[in-house]
Amino acid sequence: MRTPSRALVLVLPVVAACVDDVVPELPDEVAARCRYENRFASQDECRDYLGPWDLEAAAADCEGWGGALEEGLRCDAAGAIGWCVFDKDSATPIRVSFEEGSCAENERGCELFGGGVFVAEGQCGDGTVDPEDQVLTRPFPEPVESCVEPLPGDEPGSAEGGQVCQWLTMQGCTEPGRSWADYGSCEIPLVQRPYYPVAVRQGAEDPDPRLDDASYAGELAWVKSELSSCSCVCCHSTSSPEGPANWYLEQPGNFVNGMFDSGIAQGAGVIDSTVLGDIEPEQNNGFTRLPSVFPSTDPSRMQAFFQRELAHRGLSSGDFDPIGYYGPLTDQDLFEPSACTGGEGVAQDGTVSWSGGAARMVLVLEEGSANPGVPPNRDTPAGTVWRVDASDPTARMLVSGLSFGVVPDRGVQRFPSTGAPAALAAGRSYYLYVSADYLQPITRCLFTH
Ligand code: HEC
Repeated sequence: MRTPSRALVLVLPVVAACVDDVVPELPDEVAARCRYENRFASQDECRDYLGPWDLEAAAADCEGWGGALEEGLRCDAAGAIGWCVFDKDSATPIRVSFEEGSCAENERGCELFGGGVFVAEGQCGDGTVDPEDQVLTRPFPEPVESCVEPLPGDEPGSAEGGQVCQWLTMQGCTEPGRSWADYGSCEIPLVQRPYYPVAVRQGAEDPDPRLDDASYAGELAWVKSELSSCSCVCCHSTSSPEGPANWYLEQPGNFVNGMFDSGIAQGAGVIDSTVLGDIEPEQNNGFTRLPSVFPSTDPSRMQAFFQRELAHRGLSSGDFDPIGYYGPLTDQDLFEPSACTGGEGVAQDGTVSWSGGAARMVLVLEEGSANPGVPPNRDTPAGTVWRVDASDPTARMLVSGLSFGVVPDRGVQRFPSTGAPAALAAGRSYYLYVSADYLQPITRCLFTH
């Protein structure tokens, strides 16, 4: 969750989907190929460097994706599940062949998150998939609550029967004093945000005389103990799959020195991390975030610790942009919908229409409501009138043409929790938000009922 410079931006650059998507004839010549696992989409991909590529530049690009350049070889473009073309108008475009995923997912990944142009070749043929047949192969996982027996020798937990309960998700924490490694699981948090290893700040392991100060050392120990109870350790630990993403608790010396200034500023609440989502303390073993990015049972103590770190580095709030940039989460938060076109919206007879394919979720909101974001606290904003989700998006998605207020076959109403939604008022403007998956909007517009 680095910000603001490299941030998720690096990973999921959201480019407005207004690219002119006509792909000219691509060069036949393939200078080299690069095979790798796209860690952000967790799927195998292969990129062809087309045209007269400088092999050093191609090798550098390939290395950035974690692959090794293979000169003179080409990807199996014909067998691919669609292509994504970058720099389509240049003499040296890149053609990515998707080896996994569905056509619809790869199309969205390419255009919305990658800024390329999707070409429905290979197994995707030349047609688009019928929305009725579109499913998600790897839906964004919802938080799941787990309750487990205490480990042998540990105190009984505070849940019924002495169990220890925690939400398995980003921002989830087990009981204070217990460690996430013992009681949680990283399966869900690891795929709710991009994960990749990042080195610590230079000089992070240098001796820090503050560790000899008992009161400083005491606060630092508290910070570490709090964080070790939370799912942050999934990506911020030596046990993270490919090593820690920047800071990690086991770092020799003072682990806080491993953070970049932007990390400290988020800890101090100087950079606003609200869009990352949060869980209420009652639901999260007393832990919550904000204004600090770090979850704790005492948010003002956590914030104060990082404010002192900021001052220790000679920095102040004026040195940072107060709005944190978290890639698609921020873009989505700041999005301003405009008027629906082409019949999108809820018609007089209640028919809900959208474009862009099948949906995991459909929301009708009051005009002026926030844009839906991450679960559990930002996906159904205040002002939501109706929300319906596909009950199992891996088996069946929602298709345009629903009836407002009527739960479709294999759908589940998420708002209101029971009963019919408030009727839409004639002549009033509402916000239709339809998303293929969390944070993958396909229709966002204002309609007048
Ligand atoms: C799924 C993986 C993942 C999880 C879980 C995760 N992070 Fe991160 N985090 C990252 C990555 C990757 C980076 C490095 C981003 C970069 O530098 O490009 C990072 C960097 C950071 C930074 C440094 C940002 C900066 O600008 O220097 C902070 C602070 C942070 N994370 C806080 C947290 C907190 C708090 C939690 C738990 C609530 C958490 N992270 C959980 C992946 C994760």
